[in-house]
Amino acid sequence: MRGHERIVRLAVGAAVLALCVGGGMARADESGPVVAGKGISQMWCVNCHVVAPTQARGSDQTPSFAAIAARPDTTAEKLHNFLAQPHGMPDFRLGGKDIDNVVAYILSLKP
Ligand code: HEC
Repeated sequence: MRGHERIVRLAVGAAVLALCVGGGMARADESGPVVAGKGISQMWCVNCHVVAPTQARGSDQTPSFAAIAARPDTTAEKLHNFLAQPHGMPDFRLGGKDIDNVVAYILSLKP
């Protein structure tokens, strides 16, 4: 039965690989930071913001990331400056690389 198990694993691995490659091709340029930023957002920001267009529930007190991205005056620099300071939760602050990734993700939502 061991051989059979290994074939199943290989098949799952190939499917995951195919998904990764496919996703990378869809967004050839920015996929790394955007994907990383999305992961961070879904972990740390999702309780207060609608971080993805597919997310149904959010708070009325905060703008969704898509709404932030859609504003004409939203720039990478502004987002960087804002996120360099804690907000929402006093003790939570993103590190430099995480800020880059989250900024890339938010800007990827620009319509
Ligand atoms: C505890 C709730 C909370 C969490 C968690 C939170 N935010 Fe916020 N966020 C807010 C509130 C409230 C505002 C609006 C008031 C303000 O500017 O502080 C805001 C505003 C913002 C703005 C500025 C929007 C504007 O109007 O210009 C950005 C950008 C932002 N959040 C990004 C993030 C990111 C990225 C994360 C995750 C790393 C995050 N937020 C996590 C509550 C939160």
